[in-house]
Amino acid sequence: MLSVPNESEIIGDRVANLTPGQPDVSHGTILYLEDVTLSFDGFKALNKLNLTLDDGELRCIIGPNGAGKSTMMDVITGRRKPDSGQVFFGQNIDLLKHQEHEIARGMVGRKFQRPTVFEALTVAENIELTLLGPRAPWAVLKARSTAAERDRIDEVLTTIGLIQLRHQPAGILSHGQKQWLEIGMLLAQNPRILLVDEPVAGMTGEEMARTAELLVSLVGERTVVVVEHDMAFVRKIARTVTVLHQGSVLAEGSLSSVQSNPKVIEVYLGETPCSH
Ligand SMILES: Nc1ncnc2c1ncn2[C@@H]1O[C@H](COP(=O)(O)OP(=O)(O)OP(=O)(O)O)[C@@H](O)[C@H]1O
Ligand SMILES: [Mg+2]
Repeated sequence: MLSVPNESEIIGDRVANLTPGQPDVSHGTILYLEDVTLSFDGFKALNKLNLTLDDGELRCIIGPNGAGKSTMMDVITGRRKPDSGQVFFGQNIDLLKHQEHEIARGMVGRKFQRPTVFEALTVAENIELTLLGPRAPWAVLKARSTAAERDRIDEVLTTIGLIQLRHQPAGILSHGQKQWLEIGMLLAQNPRILLVDEPVAGMTGEEMARTAELLVSLVGERTVVVVEHDMAFVRKIARTVTVLHQGSVLAEGSLSSVQSNPKVIEVYLGETPCSH
């Protein structure tokens, strides 16, 4: 019998280990933004922005209001297309060629500031809804989850610390618990990168501490990007911090290194009202 070489023998292990649609992270990088510019009526919200994320890292993004943080997330998630520049998921997947809904499934999940859970459904049903994909809610509820899907729902509920409340309507949850549920709804879609915009706004101190634990627990398996103004929270979770200003990276490094960077100090001082 003829022995037909399989793909790995032809192209080598590195590429063959990739199943279609999987990012090539052989260089350790899960996301590349290169010279990304996006203008609104001539105003550059992003201005030749360069950013790379290591696969499995937790990155904090800080920067004054209007720095371009949310616009950057819009570009990564395919919500807006830049005027110029490149956005790659791994070395091989050009995100600019993908639609927002394609990026949302398995590639990049994004949590907006306001939780958008379905209050009349139970905690578990909220997870089930996103796990089963883009169908009408009634169709999802009529459909029976498979055993594997039920296991996945339990796994997500355990991760977000809401397993005990699984049969409760989501409407009774506290603000913080709703935020975790929404993170769970994103996790159910199995994103490789999770973007969270101001996760702790409005949370109690204890909820904030648990959110820090939750986000840190996801690291490794996923890459987590946290945009947050609350520096106490950033201090709890920070590894590498990127400071955005006027649509570009102003500084990057450990929290203490960026906080002592004169350019960063100047930008933040510019924000505070000054009487002289
Ligand atoms: N749809 C839009 N039309 C016009 N200008 C916009 C639009 N969206 C954002 N901008 C401008 O782009 C700049 C970057 O906004 P962006 O929302 O990305 O900032 P940010 O860093 O997320 O700020 P914040 O910390 O306040 O959330 C701001 O000057 C903003 O006014
Ligand atoms: Mg913003």
